[in-house]
Amino acid sequence: MANTEDNLFKNVISHSKEYGFIFPSSEIYDGLSAVYDYGQNGAELKNNIKEYWWKFMTLLHDNIVGIDAAIFMHPTTWKASGHVDAFNDPMIDNKDSKKRYRADQLIEGVIEKLEEKIEKEVEKAAKRFENFDRAMFVSTNPRVVEYQKKIDEINTRLKDAMANNDMAAMKQLIDDLEIADPISGTKNWTDVRQFNLMFSTEMGSVADDANKIYLRPETAQGIFVNFLNVQKTGRMKIPFGIAQIGKAFRNEIVARQFIFRMREFEQMEMQFFVKPGEEMKWYEFWKAKRLKWHQALGLGTDNYRYHDHLNLAHYANAACDIQFNFPMGFRELEGIHSRTDFDLKSHEKFSGKKLQYFDSEDNQNYIPYVVETSVGLDRMFLSVLASSYKEEKLEDGSERVVLKIPAPLAPNKVAILPLMKKDGLPEKAHEIMNLLKFDFRCFYEEKDAIGKRYRRQDAIGTPYCITVDHQTLQDNTVTIRNRDTMKQERVAISEVKAIISESVSMAELLKTI
Ligand code: GAP
Repeated sequence: MANTEDNLFKNVISHSKEYGFIFPSSEIYDGLSAVYDYGQNGAELKNNIKEYWWKFMTLLHDNIVGIDAAIFMHPTTWKASGHVDAFNDPMIDNKDSKKRYRADQLIEGVIEKLEEKIEKEVEKAAKRFENFDRAMFVSTNPRVVEYQKKIDEINTRLKDAMANNDMAAMKQLIDDLEIADPISGTKNWTDVRQFNLMFSTEMGSVADDANKIYLRPETAQGIFVNFLNVQKTGRMKIPFGIAQIGKAFRNEIVARQFIFRMREFEQMEMQFFVKPGEEMKWYEFWKAKRLKWHQALGLGTDNYRYHDHLNLAHYANAACDIQFNFPMGFRELEGIHSRTDFDLKSHEKFSGKKLQYFDSEDNQNYIPYVVETSVGLDRMFLSVLASSYKEEKLEDGSERVVLKIPAPLAPNKVAILPLMKKDGLPEKAHEIMNLLKFDFRCFYEEKDAIGKRYRRQDAIGTPYCITVDHQTLQDNTVTIRNRDTMKQERVAISEVKAIISESVSMAELLKTI
């Protein structure tokens, strides 16, 4: 991460703590690694992101319904899903620094560096030549061709090692690439071992293996095991989807970068059940739809890109990520996976219960194929927070920190601020708050100078501030200040609701998708 981006990320993290968005978990005991709590403003922002996703899925698609399955599931679920046997990450320790790493990520780091080198060559050449043809350049420039050959070679070896569960081959690749520990600088590595990411606990009072259950590592399985319940009780016809928002838990080997990779996090997942053979059509459909959903937030279309998976998960026949330009660079925000009939078929086998759909048009039974969209709620939160955070220099030489959060997602929509704490201004301000509070989340504050109060509202991303002054008592007008432009205008109290409504409305945002 470049220095300025590094600083920016640090500022975002400390801002989010200072203004009640995110706190380290159980901080009075020095926190718990990779676990965070959402504060009063964070919880509101998070709920608004959930609402944006839930309404998009269940209101805008009449063939998608939502459920809320339990976190604990029968342990055989995870045998059937493949998580007991295959939900592993390869880990390696450096004997000198005593630090633990994901072996595949160390290798991918080498690939990223080579990709950066290619980009540098491309940038240099693009500056030199008019009518620069990127495709032609990367396929003919000897240095770039050499880098690409190396990338392909590493990718093939990594993919083979992962597919064959060959940890010795993975270690050999690390040795051959001469990867050194970024902390100790040495190549004194242990062997590579597989590490299962599921947390387990015991159900009931007897702690033995028979009672062992897992904290779900993905919400998806709660949907699969309820596939027939929902299909039958909801009289759903294929294609249809089941959506769910809920907690997931993974004992990540390297959990870092704030809320990007946590051990307890939330997912917003939707499984779309389709006729076998039609999955690629729906995979493309959901890829496009989900990107549009992200882009409608207005955080910058250039901040998103697709990344196709080379190493497919055990259940997928196609998969891609929607990546976001986080402060540490482009990283996965959402996964879109064509999961075939792997999960339903496997649950059918392990449970002995039929999980098939009768297609009355074709007069046949089949196990549907599934296209999944899965976005991390906490990563969504980070994408919104980090890209909304702005340090601005103002015309008068002063500075402000403002969160330009998309208005429908902002924790508070409007702050109501009596200019003074006397002369009946607080009473009038409360009267206005009572008018607005049924439609918008309002924030009331009467302490400190008005400028200071505006800055505090900027810092938590409140789109509008309404100031109640002595003129208000005479003519029922207030000033309304816009967070982004900082412009103030005098308007009648009766107009306030209409002015605010459109820009903060979730419905209006949804209509733009
Ligand atoms: N059901 C499919 C599934 O879970 P995944 O790619 O492992 O697929 C989906 O996860 C999304 O969940 C990711 O794109 C990411 O946004 C989020 N996610 C995964 N692991 C996470 C973690 N440790 N911390 C925060 N978010 C995570």
